[in-house]
Amino acid sequence: MNEKKSVARRNFLKYTSASLAAFTIVPRSVLGGKGYTAPSDQLTKGIIGVGGMGLGHFDYEGTKLLAVCDVDKNHLQRASDIAGPDVSTYSDFRELLARPDIDVVHIVTPPHWH
Ligand SMILES: NC(=O)c1ccc[n+]([C@@H]2O[C@H](COP(=O)([O-])OP(=O)(O)OC[C@H]3O[C@@H](n4cnc5c(N)ncnc54)[C@H](O)[C@@H]3O)[C@@H](O)[C@H]2O)c1
Repeated sequence: MNEKKSVARRNFLKYTSASLAAFTIVPRSVLGGKGYTAPSDQLTKGIIGVGGMGLGHFDYEGTKLLAVCDVDKNHLQRASDIAGPDVSTYSDFRELLARPDIDVVHIVTPPHWH
């Protein structure tokens, strides 16, 4: 009786794990490989001041832009349009600096604001 149960359990595990393996889609972040930068190898960043020069700091290799900040609404909107909806926007730099998930910040404001 006990042996029967154990065999049935073994079969159950065998078939369920086989079906799970067949239907699991392994994400790119797990597989890694050529041309893929793992999140642990990327610095997350924010940009404060997205006027002329600030727009040039979006795409450095090994970094991922998470947020932009500008006091000028038009500049902020333009930066948001370029960066896309996943990048947060702020008009107060203190809110951007308070984010614990941002590793580095580009400060691209006029010199008196550095
Ligand atoms: N323009 C150049 O060729 C050049 C070359 C090298 C270095 N720089 C330096 O780069 C910096 C930026 O120059 P730029 O030409 O991009 O100026 P810019 O005026 O085009 O851009 C500065 C941006 O900072 C924003 N800003 C101002 N105060 C702010 C604040 N408190 N919080 C958030 N945003 C704020 C402004 O609204 C503007 O969008 C300056 O320090 C400049 O000296 C400029």
